[in-house]
Formats: sequence, C-alpha cells, structure tokens
Amino acid sequence: MPLLYDESNLPVISELRAKCYDNVNKDEVEPIKKIAVLTSGGDAPGMNAAIRSVVRAGWNAGFEVYGVTRGFHGLWKGEIRELTKRDVSETLQRGGTFLMTARSKTFMTDAGVLKGARMMEAYDLDALVVIGGDGSYKGARALARLGMPVIGIPGTIDNDISSTDYTIGYDTAMNTAMDCIDKLRDTASSHERCSVIEVMGRRAGYIALNVGIATGAEAILIPEVPYDFNRDVLRIILDGRNKGKKHYVVIVAEGAGSATEIAKQIEDATEIESRPTILGHLQRGGSPSLRDRTTASLMGIQAIDCLLEKRYNRIIIEKDGKISDVDIEQGLDMKKTIPAIDIENAKRLS
Ligand code: F6P
Repeated sequence: MPLLYDESNLPVISELRAKCYDNVNKDEVEPIKKIAVLTSGGDAPGMNAAIRSVVRAGWNAGFEVYGVTRGFHGLWKGEIRELTKRDVSETLQRGGTFLMTARSKTFMTDAGVLKGARMMEAYDLDALVVIGGDGSYKGARALARLGMPVIGIPGTIDNDISSTDYTIGYDTAMNTAMDCIDKLRDTASSHERCSVIEVMGRRAGYIALNVGIATGAEAILIPEVPYDFNRDVLRIILDGRNKGKKHYVVIVAEGAGSATEIAKQIEDATEIESRPTILGHLQRGGSPSLRDRTTASLMGIQAIDCLLEKRYNRIIIEKDGKISDVDIEQGLDMKKTIPAIDIENAKRLS
C-alpha cells in the first residue's frame, strides 16, 4: 500500500472507540478484519518467528495482516505494508527482526501516540500486535487508552517483563553467552587468568545468574543483589587460590557493574592477571533456539486467539509452562524478582 497519509490529512479520532473496553457487550463489537504487527525496543532472536506466527495464524483466521517497519517510529511515519503468508517464508530460523526495530522517543509523547492512533485509523487497522519489552508495552498501552485495540507479545533477551515467566529470545541469548564463556574459560585456564565477563541485563540478572550456573562461574554479580567486592568476589578467588585453583570466571550483569573495572580491582588486589570481556550485542543475534521458535509461534497464535475472541488490550504470557494472556494495564503493574532460592543455589555451586 502506498504511504498516502501525511500530518495534514490524517483522519481525526472523533471519539474513544469503546469496542476495546471490557464492559462492552462483545456481541455488539464489530469483529476484527485488519491487523498490523510491529517489533519494538531491543531485538531478540525469535521475533521473526513471532511475526510469522501472527501473519500465518492471522490470515488463517480470516484477518488481513500488515507489517509496520521500525517499530512505533514506522507507525508514526506510516511505514505499513501488507504481509502475506509467503512474505514470512524462511523467516522462522532467522535472527533479528525483518520488520526492523527502533526505540522511538517521539512516540512516547502524547502527540506521538495520537499520531500513531490516527495512522491506525488512516490504514483502517482494527488492532496492533506489538512484539517487544515493557517499554514497548507502554507505547501499546498508550494506544489502547486512545481506543486502539492492542496485543503485546513479550520479546526481549533480558527476560525482565514482569507479567511473564519467559520472554522470546532469552534462551538463545543464554546459549550464545554460555558458548562464549566456555571459550573464555579455555583461554583463562591456559594462561592461569581470571576472566571477568559482562553479560547483558541493564536492569535484570536473569542471563547472568543462569549462564553463571551453566558455566560454573566462581562469582556472579547481578543488579538485584547489591554486592560487596571483598566478600563476594575477592574472598572467593583467594579461597580458590588457597585450594590450588589457577583460573577463575566472574560474570557480571551490565546493570551490576563494569567488567573492565572489576577485572582491574581483582588484578590490583591479587596480582592474578585478569581480563575483561564485554559480550554485548553478540547476545542479541543468531538463529533462535528451539525453545524460542516454539514459544514465539505459540504466543503469536495466542495473540490471534485474543483478537478472534474480542479480548483486546492483552499481553501474552507464559506462566508455569502454559501460554495465556493478561490485561495490559494489570500486566504493566506486576512485579517480578529473581527467586532468592535461585541466588542461593548459585552460591552453593561456587
Ligand atoms: O535488549 C535488552 C538489552 O539487551 C539490555 O540488556 C541492554 O542494556 C540494552 O538492550 C542495550 O540495547 P541497545 O544497545 O540496543 O540500546
């Protein structure tokens, strides 16, 4: 579809579209005909699988399905095109997101959201499926509050979305980090060094904690638990050295500290050669794991089911191994923390 609309000829949203509110009699609500999907925030392996699922299950349910490029920024600009079932062939196994993604500051303003909603009106979009993290959900919630039906699908490697036990991309990212850390341990062992590895997780230590357990890290530092360098890093390394240990792996989540600084502190205090490695965006790339492909596919189907059943403004979740959905307002208010037992268990293995 050509990009027909600019700021001057966008339709006006005359009234709140009551159809997306729960207290409306569902029989009076017109069924969804045309939907769009976008990816937003940091990319995550499995986002393509989620798009593919929304597109295929959407057409199979009788919807017309459109794709928005560059997240909310693309919605704002009207970068919207039809996505057929063929358009998503060969995307399941690809990393990244073929719709591309962005972190849109403009969209987070009232004017930005209003323009996004008007774009949806202009393209006759009855609903928008947003694949991303909590930040992306806030954009979706803003649209929902203007009367635009939305569905959120959790996509971020950080696993830090409160409403769900699992987010698409987490498993692949952990496996990527684990492979890298195994390799770093090889060379740390050859050189009798300490390898300090920074993994992603600006606000959450899920990757650090679980990859730390999987790679047998001597110390794991996460943002959820304040650490004391002497007690939580130095003492463990010195105890290890006293028992004849010759190399060490320390994992730090980016939100807990800097690998470069911690490596220097360790070297200064112990004279053990220490090398920092920041895994960075490596962790966001790569072909999605089986776990991410299947979860993304099932979550896409759940999103389409919500729309078919006229249950709007929902976010898809995985709880106790089951895929379901919760209200977007409630989902964004939920809190999630790493269970204390997981942290204790990691310590018992060091
Ligand atoms: O995708 C989440 C995340 O990986 C965070 O852990 C990290 O802090 C952030 O994205 C960095 O993303 P970018 O460099 O794209 O802003």
